Parts: sequence; structure tokens; C-alpha cells
Amino acid sequence: MTQSLRVNKQRLMGFLNTLGTFGALEGGGVCRLALSAADKQARDWVVSQMQALGLTIRIDQIGNVIGIYKGQEDVPPVMMGSHIDTVATGGLYDGCFGVMAGLEVISTLKDSGITPKRPVAVAFFTDEEGARFAPDMFGSLVFQGGLSLEEALAIKDVDGFTVGEELDKIGYKGNAPVGCFEVDTFLEAHIEQGPVLDKEGIKIGVVESVQGISWTEFTIEGVSNHAGTTPMSMRHDAGLVAAKINVFAREVAHKIGGSQVATVGYISCKPNLINVVPNHVVMTVDLRNTDNDVLKQAETLLFDYAENTAKEEGVKISRRKLARFDPVYFHKEIVDLVEQEAEAAGLNSKRMPSGAGHDAQILKEMCPTAMIFVPCKDGLSHNVKEFTEPDDLEAGANILLSVILKRANRP
Ligand code: GLV
Ligand code: MN
Ligand code: MN
Repeated sequence: MTQSLRVNKQRLMGFLNTLGTFGALEGGGVCRLALSAADKQARDWVVSQMQALGLTIRIDQIGNVIGIYKGQEDVPPVMMGSHIDTVATGGLYDGCFGVMAGLEVISTLKDSGITPKRPVAVAFFTDEEGARFAPDMFGSLVFQGGLSLEEALAIKDVDGFTVGEELDKIGYKGNAPVGCFEVDTFLEAHIEQGPVLDKEGIKIGVVESVQGISWTEFTIEGVSNHAGTTPMSMRHDAGLVAAKINVFAREVAHKIGGSQVATVGYISCKPNLINVVPNHVVMTVDLRNTDNDVLKQAETLLFDYAENTAKEEGVKISRRKLARFDPVYFHKEIVDLVEQEAEAAGLNSKRMPSGAGHDAQILKEMCPTAMIFVPCKDGLSHNVKEFTEPDDLEAGANILLSVILKRANRP
């Protein structure tokens, strides 16, 4: 029976396209930063879909939402999920696919009149992206117990609004307690967000691990002065130090090689005027590696360079850790099951690490967890042009369905 059960591609695409209307950008893509007005609209719509399916809805104190489809037994659910917040220049699929595929899987079960042995749930977690509030993934982190609720509620965005205030504003500070919900199994379906599957013509990525992530914010304080009159030898240029750190981050990635990546994604410079030496820069560096020891080396190289360069230029520098996640490895049995189900469905697959961060890497601390990747055109993600073929989304959702059913019905 489970072999022939298939998701409905049209309905899945309908879910994804409707979700993509909340915070839609002119010309394509989505801006739906965590706890924004657009996030509230999207949350309300997803909750209405959960209600329409008759799911039991649980909203916790940090705004994570879980919809639960009853099983034959009252035991912890096998859970699917991801996030519906986006970066400011996001697409329709990052995170959203995992949540909409979850809704589609439950819709398919319901249509077929199937009540699995264990309950089946679909969740979306607050602020996976970290594009508004750092650290990223704090919703799943609080859910799992890796960060206290109080600390998370106090996190501020760049305008000084706290998570607690913003959750209240959109009506998603729920009543369900955090840190106590038991999950039997967690499966996150996601677009790859990289070029490997697309380039190699592979339909299913069997995700074995997620690389480590290190986010640092540097604040550099120099002296602003006249661009025409200040001799080069007398400058304390915060902008120059920021530029050097940016170039050095790239050099570190090249020098270390392998999976090492380095990105300066945010720079704000003051006074940001053509004829004034900059006196104040805030910048971020994102370093990632599959090997934690090598990632630590990259951090040390970068931090030492930043200190020394600031000293040479006579500026002050301070740094703040925004996020630090060690690499994780998913549950062998579930990883194997994803691979087996892909093979059974006649889909080619490849074992791979994830370059991006995901809620699954946090849930992994609570229960057997794995991820299913589908291709992503030209590897473009965190980009309004993000795109995955509907057939590939359907294939990924079908693997999600079969893995979830196997886990939900196992003895
Ligand atoms: C989340 O999308 C991340 O990997 O930065
Ligand atoms: Mn994502
Ligand atoms: Mn993302």
C-alpha cells in the first residue's frame, strides 16, 4: 500500500506558490524576515491549512508551530518540518519546501484514509534564517533545550526590537512550554541550495551531515577626518581595516582549502560619505567547515589578523560571537532509509554534507534525524531567482512520504 501512495504535485505546488505570496517582492522572490508582518500573514495561512486538515496545533512560547495528525497510538510523533521565514532576498523554496511537503504528506495520508501507528506532525520553527535575529535557528534551539527561552526572548534586531516584543506583536508567543515535547523521528526536506545535484543530474541528496558554522560580528572604531587634507600616514581608517579583513577571509578560505568557505555578508560604514575617512564599521564574517578543528583554525587565523591589522592602523576593534554550531552527523539508520527509499522509487541519489544550516541539525540532538535534498537550479539560493523543478519537488516529497510512513508504522 505504501509503495503506491504518492503526493499530489498540483496541490504541493499550490501550497508553495500561495506561501510565496506573503512578503512577495516585485519581480519575484520573497522578503519574509522572522516575526515581521509578512511572517505573521504566512504563519496565519499555514495554521489555517493545518486547521483545514484537522490537525492538533501546538504553538510554543518561542513561536514554533506544530500540527499533529493523530496516529493509532498516543505516542511521540514522527515529525517533518523546516522554516517559513526567509532572508530579505529569498526565494519560494528555502525552508518553505520542507513545511509545504509536510502539509502535502499529511494531506495525502488523510485523502487515503490512512492512520499510521504513530502520529505524524509537521512543524515550522521560528527564525531559522538568522537574517533578522542572531543566532539563526534559535526557534529550534529553544525547542530542543540548547538555548533558554529568556535568552531567546531578549535577542534584539538591528533596530533594537526584541524577539519577545515582536512575538507578542504578531500574536505568536504561544502557551505550549518549550523543552519538553518528545519527537520520535525528524525529517527535513529542503532544496540543496548548492549546485551539486543540479550539475550532476541527481534527484535526491541523502544528507549525512551539516558543516560547522561560525558567525562573528566585528566593530571597528577609527577617526573620521577630511579625505583631502589628512596625510595617509595620519589616518585611522575603520573602512580600510574592514576591507583588509574581507580580503583576508577569502585568503583564509583559499589557504585552508577543502570545504572551507568564508563570507563577509554585512558591512555598515559610517559616516559613509565620499570625502570622509570612515570612523565606524560593523561587519560580519561567516566561516564554515565540515571539520571542527579546521574551522577553529580558520577562526584563529581571522581573529589574529583582525587584531593585528587594527593595531597597525591605530583603530579599536571588538568582536562578538553571533552564532557557533559544531558540524553534526545525522542518524545512520534514517540516512540509510532515505537512500533505500530513493532507490526503491527509481531515483538516483548521492550522499552529501549540507553547506547550509538547518533546523534538523538542532533536532538531531533530540531524536533520530535526517534530511532529504532536492536539486536547486544553478545552485542559486538566498536569491530571488531560487528555483526547483516541480517534478523534483514532487520526487522529494514522495521520498519524505515513504520515509515518514516507514518510521511511523515501524513495530
Ligand atoms: C541558513 O540558511 C544558513 O545556512 O545561513
Ligand atoms: Mn533553509
Ligand atoms: Mn536559508
